Amino acid sequence: MHFPFYEKLGLAVLVTAWLVFGANWAGNLLVHPKPLKSPAITIAGVEEAGDKAAKPAAGGKQVDALTLLGSADVKAGEAAFKKCKACHTAEKGGKNLVGPNLWDIVGRPKASHEGFAYSGTLKGMGGAWTYKDLDHFIDDPKGFAKGTKMSFAGVKKPEERAAVIKYLHSLSDSPKPLP
Ligand code: HEC
Repeated sequence: MHFPFYEKLGLAVLVTAWLVFGANWAGNLLVHPKPLKSPAITIAGVEEAGDKAAKPAAGGKQVDALTLLGSADVKAGEAAFKKCKACHTAEKGGKNLVGPNLWDIVGRPKASHEGFAYSGTLKGMGGAWTYKDLDHFIDDPKGFAKGTKMSFAGVKKPEERAAVIKYLHSLSDSPKPLP
């Protein structure tokens, strides 16, 4: 048999395709592929997948913590703020660490603390920190401000978040009224 060049090429493609599909088909007969329930390999720190999975299936946001502010406990908030202290100081005139000082954060214009190099994302958001924005940001920093430099998974429990927010509210010479 003698084929012109392009026919050979066409034949080669067909044979290759047949081999690939055939091998795949044969492979499926031999081992029944089962989709993995969770990734076989998880790479630490790539995404807070665990935390995302922990969210209720309803999709969207959890109970917002603001309805719980009234009964929230400032002392419990101060205790929970320990996780923030790795990166934030809370006292008046406190230093910027990995994150900016948070004195008087309620009502403070976003990304405005002197001497701190904010991400473009946070700088571009505009407006002041309302209770609602704080609730959303502390629940899910990257969900609220995609690209934020705050590498923190968030405080997922509404009661705990409410306590932290009430504590933040207390960090002021004249605390803003609670919503
Ligand atoms: C791993 C370090 C880290 C932890 C832990 C952390 N933060 Fe942050 N935080 C940052 C960084 C960095 C920024 C600046 C974000 C940016 O520029 O995008 C920030 C910004 C903020 C802002 C906005 C400040 C402003 O001036 O606009 C608030 C509010 C805040 N954090 C609250 C919290 C609270 C509350 C906690 C604890 C529940 C916390 N953070 C935990 C690093 C952290």
